[in-house]
Amino acid sequence: MRVKAVLFDAYGTLFDVHSVVALAESLFPGQGAALSQAWRTRQLEYTWLRTLSNRYRDFWQVTGDALTWSAQAQHLPLTAAQHAQLLDAYLRLQPFSENLEVLRSLQASGMVLGILSNGTASMLDAAIDSAGMRDLFTHVLSVDSIGRYKTDAGAYALGTDAVGAPANEIAFVSSNCWDAIGATWFGYRTFWVNRGNAPMDQLDASPDGVGSSLRDLPRFLAR
Ligand code: LAC
Repeated sequence: MRVKAVLFDAYGTLFDVHSVVALAESLFPGQGAALSQAWRTRQLEYTWLRTLSNRYRDFWQVTGDALTWSAQAQHLPLTAAQHAQLLDAYLRLQPFSENLEVLRSLQASGMVLGILSNGTASMLDAAIDSAGMRDLFTHVLSVDSIGRYKTDAGAYALGTDAVGAPANEIAFVSSNCWDAIGATWFGYRTFWVNRGNAPMDQLDASPDGVGSSLRDLPRFLAR
């Protein structure tokens, strides 16, 4: 069965979280890439911990907390102004270069497009506007409405509820392997954009398709 709707993860999939590296490098020469990596890893770990223990704080807060920890771990003297500057960069993340073209052609083919993300509605709105993607998405869904992060089933259920179709008629696309697998567990038809040529996560399930960029998605959707 052909899918009629495609839901995208936001960070890492549509927007490059490591596009903050240049700013981080200018603040802390030679340490920007390591800061960006640690920041992203800690950010995700905090989402999982908070969901496991029912201690929700929104993604803006979690992202800020992860930045504070990562700077301390690297012994970087991050000022409040630099913290705000780096966090604000999250509102203007670079979209990956192929994304706009692929999204436009999927939309032109009649596909309903949406975002399903850990990010808050205001974070997502800012990033969408900054990337020039405003007219592309019918649904912009944030887990903030349920106070639980991916891979909680309630987070993925936001997509089926909004689209009004069963999960196996909806594609879910993420560059985060664990997120693509979480969506597979939920029942979506899943596509992993393996941008970094990473090994498959070992979680007893795998995405239905894998590609190296969003350019590989239309072929998966057509099969
Ligand atoms: C998101 C994170 C997982 O956008 O990248 O939900």
